[in-house]
Amino acid sequence: MGWRQFWNRDDHAIYVNARHKQLHFTRVAADLLALLPEPPLHLLDYGCGEALEAPRIAAHCGRLSLYDAAPGIVAGLKRRYAGFPSIEVLDDAALASLVPSCFDAILCLSVLQYITRPECEALLDLGHRLLVPRGHLILGDVIVPGAPLVSDIASLLSFAWEGGFLTAALAGLVTTFFSDYRRLRSTIGLLAFDEATMLDMLRAHGFEARRAARNIGHNQARMTFIAEKL
Ligand SMILES: C[S@@+](CC[C@H](N)C(=O)[O-])C[C@H]1O[C@@H](n2cnc3c(N)ncnc32)[C@H](O)[C@@H]1O
Repeated sequence: MGWRQFWNRDDHAIYVNARHKQLHFTRVAADLLALLPEPPLHLLDYGCGEALEAPRIAAHCGRLSLYDAAPGIVAGLKRRYAGFPSIEVLDDAALASLVPSCFDAILCLSVLQYITRPECEALLDLGHRLLVPRGHLILGDVIVPGAPLVSDIASLLSFAWEGGFLTAALAGLVTTFFSDYRRLRSTIGLLAFDEATMLDMLRAHGFEARRAARNIGHNQARMTFIAEKL
């Protein structure tokens, strides 16, 4: 099993309970809205996962497109957002048929770590093609090389303490220890970048980029980059 198959399972249990999942998406939406350029704008959330706060993000932006590589997630999003005219859910075929310069901004949050370096470079080219000139590519939750698992654990526990789900988080850590997530993390690994390498790579793909002062979400051991299409 690779990361793609892992994410397509409906039992991957990366959230320790429903409260953790909701608080994650609530926090991500708040952090994202503070970083986006002035609305109205058409935003693509690439690798969106369950996108629980999509209605709030769409209400702010005006138009939101959601894409995820996992067909099971896309099917669920299509059901959940069928009655939302400002939210469009893209499958692989719809993504492939997009015309150039169709988005003002693209979010790619907590995705790069699960792909290979060549896939990451292809993703930057895709983002460049789909963005309008001066459009923003926001890459969040980028992992630093050698980041210890313990920093992820500490971040989860402090988020859980603030969010009132500490007991569930402690139980979740035990489950994770025996899970496919941990096995894949130690066998396939996670793609990681230091800040200079990420900025160089973005420049080489036609972006002017900077690291944001804070990462999107609760894990401040990870990084967010804001890249503007040149
Ligand atoms: C950790 S989740 C992040 C979900 C969401 N962006 C968030 O931050 O809550 C990673 C997501 O990336 C998706 N993914 C993995 N590889 C992908 C790829 N090559 N293209 C698009 N999505 C991908 C997975 O299916 C999964 O939903």
